Amino acid sequence: MDFDSTTLILTTGALLLFFLWRAVAALKPPRCGCDTCRSYLSSSWTSTYNNLSDWYTHLLSQSPAATIHVHVLNNVITANPDNVLHILKTRFDNYPKGKQFSAILGDLLGAGIFNVDGHCWLFQRKIASLELGSLSVRSYAFQIVRSEIESRLLPLLGGGGGGAAAAVVDLQDIFQRFSFDSICRFSFGMDPGCLEASLPESEFAAAFDAASRLSAMRATATAPAIWKIKRFLNLGSERELKKAIRSVHLLSESVIRNKRKSAAESGKGDLLSRFMATINDDVLLRDIVISFLLAGRDTVAAALTGFFFLVSRNPSAVERIREESDRIMGEYSDRAVEFEELREMHFLQAAAHESMRLLPPVQFDSKFCAAADVLADGTAVARGTRVTYHPYAMGRMESVWGKDCGEFRPERWLTAADGVFRQESPYKFAVFQAGPRVCLGRDMAVAEMKAVALSVIRKFDFELVDGGGAAASAAAPRFAPGLTATFAGGLRAVVRERKRF
Ligand code: HEM
Repeated sequence: MDFDSTTLILTTGALLLFFLWRAVAALKPPRCGCDTCRSYLSSSWTSTYNNLSDWYTHLLSQSPAATIHVHVLNNVITANPDNVLHILKTRFDNYPKGKQFSAILGDLLGAGIFNVDGHCWLFQRKIASLELGSLSVRSYAFQIVRSEIESRLLPLLGGGGGGAAAAVVDLQDIFQRFSFDSICRFSFGMDPGCLEASLPESEFAAAFDAASRLSAMRATATAPAIWKIKRFLNLGSERELKKAIRSVHLLSESVIRNKRKSAAESGKGDLLSRFMATINDDVLLRDIVISFLLAGRDTVAAALTGFFFLVSRNPSAVERIREESDRIMGEYSDRAVEFEELREMHFLQAAAHESMRLLPPVQFDSKFCAAADVLADGTAVARGTRVTYHPYAMGRMESVWGKDCGEFRPERWLTAADGVFRQESPYKFAVFQAGPRVCLGRDMAVAEMKAVALSVIRKFDFELVDGGGAAASAAAPRFAPGLTATFAGGLRAVVRERKRF
């Protein structure tokens, strides 16, 4: 063996050892002896709290600055509105989504608006805000929601129109089906029919559910190398995720292909047709539309599930919603609500916001610190740290909402003098995020939520079964893992048609 080949073998060997050492080091969960990290690593918090968000809420309310650091996750978490303003607006450029987030959701979302920063984000944001801001798109969206309510939701809850029928239903499942149909019709111009009376299984909805649930699981790992190695070897949950994402991609691609083929369809008002007028790249189109499905499906369903969970426990709010709508629509009116009428319903608007304050559909949202910084409360943040603002905890902080923060009290949103709805600072009520990346579907989502809530409340009485299902029997619901708040076990309720006439 000559000198060169010996050197080559030794160098290769050393390199292999180095990479092996790096891989083993990356697999080891980080260590920290502080109480919070020990409790996180041993999961001992689960003996006191149903949900990680409830434990974080407790820790944040104990912290004088409403900010904590979970060292083993390299994660600073805050419920302090001044910090939220700092992260989401003042130093927006220093807190991008970052590569870590893109890696977690990248396989599902690709270069869709949710998953990118910089130019690619700004380009999509500009087109999307033009579209979603336009009157024609909003009225197109509202028509879809109305037709889904009238032709599917109300007949289904009424047991097919059979009078005062009482049925136990899982409201969460129904709202998920409702919002999947609505967002698919709005985004693709395609109707999956999930809310048909037979409650059919939809391959698309199932694949989409699995893909978002399994992607969210990646974010909980203390050592990201674990899921990356599993992905590389195509094992376990990563194998399942790959299959689910493939189905979502194939189905979305076929919708795009069909739309391209059919010249007649391209004139329609759905979002895909509108994006197609500007973008030629089919992969980007697919990614954009998948981001919209994610944005508009589970969020609206979660908002409605949380709303019915809370109003069921507060019958006086239901009565006030009925009184208000009787005044605006007429007591015996059985027709669908108009968009303009919804705008006049201040109490309903307040109740919708109050329920999202306590049960936000997106419980927390993370960014990554690009360059070392100091937050508004003085917390030092090192480069590369994950920084999370936590709307769920914020809604339950005395320092943010006062002593009655745990109560469902829609009146807090109304002016004392004339009962007019008053918007709070988005840095205090950060349910739709805030700043340059604020949710683009906020107004549409609130209108959809109000239209559904009102139609159900006017036509039916409802009562939760076992507090809404085994999972929800405690004071706060137990949530299932996922990107949006989902009640583990659903929200079971008895629904009866009201006898009004
Ligand atoms: C109650 C329902 C909804 C809630 C609570 C909600 C909340 C949010 C939140 C927290 C974000 C920030 C996510 C992040 O950057 O990580 C967001 C972004 C976004 N939302 Fe919503 N959303 C809702 C409904 C909708 C609907 C119905 C649509 C569209 C049809 C929509 C479109 C978007 C889009 C496009 C973004 C990305 C904005 C950007 O990155 O510039 N949302 N939403």
